[in-house]
Amino acid sequence: MQYSQKVLDHFMNPHNVGKMENPDAVATEGSPACGDQVTIYLKIDEGSKKIDDISFLSYGCASNIATASIITDLAKGKTLDEAKNITWQDAMEALDGLPPVKVHCSVLAADTLQTAISNYEIEHGLKDVPNFGKETILEELKKIIYPQVGEDIVTLKMVKYVGFDNGEVLIDLNIMSFDEWRDNVAEEIREHLSKYPEVKNIQINFP
Ligand code: FES
Repeated sequence: MQYSQKVLDHFMNPHNVGKMENPDAVATEGSPACGDQVTIYLKIDEGSKKIDDISFLSYGCASNIATASIITDLAKGKTLDEAKNITWQDAMEALDGLPPVKVHCSVLAADTLQTAISNYEIEHGLKDVPNFGKETILEELKKIIYPQVGEDIVTLKMVKYVGFDNGEVLIDLNIMSFDEWRDNVAEEIREHLSKYPEVKNIQINFP
């Protein structure tokens, strides 16, 4: 697999590694695509809302370590509002790209950072626990990368319809039966959505 020099550098010498004692916020997320995990810890200045310190623990692949390393670099010293704008695309760009089948590793790192920020905000009364609905489903679908090209399935217009009613999720996907990644994508959707207690059933339809 062809990695950029920056990915290799961050993998060999990751920045901001380690468990943080008494963090102000923490989040652990796993990737349904591979089972890898990342934990991110935050120390927040209560007045300025700046990320004074950030660290991570990785239980995953080389790209998992490299993307967690770069995302913690990108977030350090930023205010929470600034850090909320950090995306997996920013992590990819800062690493000079990733092979398509490894793009989901950067999604995992960015997602974990955003969950840690969200946990802090909820705990400190800065925002309410979001209501589950169609918007939540769409946000989750944007985190699912079609491995062949390294883009998410919403951007690739593979999602034709999303519905949510009474615990039932209904998704129509524009992925043909001969597509070798079809089952993989469907499985990942199920894993992403089944973590929500509001979801009782997931129906995925294909052409
Ligand atoms: Fe899944 Fe890297 S996080 S292969």
